[in-house]
Amino acid sequence: MIANAVEELLRYLTIVQSLAVRVAVEDVTIGGQFVRAGEGLIMSLPAGNRDAAFISDPDILDLDRNARGHLAFGYGVHQCLGQALARAELEIALPTLLRRLPELRLAVPIEQVRFRHDMGTYGVHELPVSW
Ligand code: HEM
Repeated sequence: MIANAVEELLRYLTIVQSLAVRVAVEDVTIGGQFVRAGEGLIMSLPAGNRDAAFISDPDILDLDRNARGHLAFGYGVHQCLGQALARAELEIALPTLLRRLPELRLAVPIEQVRFRHDMGTYGVHELPVSW
């Protein structure tokens, strides 16, 4: 299940929160919004990944589902060049960690974990664990 789990984690957490920036090369209307040629756009990758039109129950983390097509690595010709490496690292590191440290668990109540809501790159400020 690791390949599906990695895709779902990438979708659900959307580590890069707003890196996808583009310039319209021609006048275009997107979602009812007129964009003039030459204007800049900043896409919200998390909003796309939590769009119910893309995936059902988007706010649920479901490690068994197929989340392929998510926007965690962006979209189009400038989507992440390192995504194959990133996928390989996650698919190797996560099962290895769980296999070698089966007792791995949070060392503090989850309410005390400080998430990086204040930064463009999502994650945690620190993650105290024990095993
Ligand atoms: C989980 C890890 C990673 C995530 C979530 C991630 C996410 C992203 C995102 C959202 C973009 C912008 C895509 C767009 O504008 O459509 C991007 C671009 C890029 N990423 Fe990653 N990335 C990751 C790992 C890596 C790694 C490991 C490398 C290199 C070894 C890498 C190299 C690049 C490069 C070179 C670009 C610019 C591509 C371009 O503008 O044409 N990334 N990444």
